Amino acid sequence: MFTLETDKSLSKIEFYESLNLQLTGLLMDEEDLICNLSQFAAFLMQSLEEINWAGVYFARGEELVLGPYVGKVACTRIPFGRGVCGTAASTQTVQRIEDVNAFAGHIACDSASESEIVIPILVADKLIGVLDIDSPIKGRFDADDQAGIEALLSSLIQATRFDWRL
Ligand code: SME
Repeated sequence: MFTLETDKSLSKIEFYESLNLQLTGLLMDEEDLICNLSQFAAFLMQSLEEINWAGVYFARGEELVLGPYVGKVACTRIPFGRGVCGTAASTQTVQRIEDVNAFAGHIACDSASESEIVIPILVADKLIGVLDIDSPIKGRFDADDQAGIEALLSSLIQATRFDWRL
């Protein structure tokens, strides 16, 4: 049985290192894409404070399609170049947005969201989709959060087979 343990005395960098060890353990015996992405979304929601949405969108042609997530219902399709997620997909760069209300074209799925980080998911240089995490707090994600979340995403990618078919 997996139980999440976090020590409040840890620095942010140590906190993410500890999370990464727990994530590696969580995914150790499983490589299915949908299964691991579902676990990953739930893991982020239960281990990161002050977030209200975590999950992925898959790249399908020139748009993103909603994948496994935890949070309120969300828009299902986002064209490349639209919103924070579409910008991350079209530019293949991390979008760390301190105030989503100041981001032209931000798509408000949950009106509680105030800040957001979107990280492209690249496997063998191919864009598979994006990881999206929203927070009800402005400026929730700093550079250490970005580095920590990128490291978690790398562990997820390493643990997972990306040749999933129905
Ligand atoms: N806010 C995102 C849309 C996805 S939801 O936050 C889940 C955006 O602007 O792309």
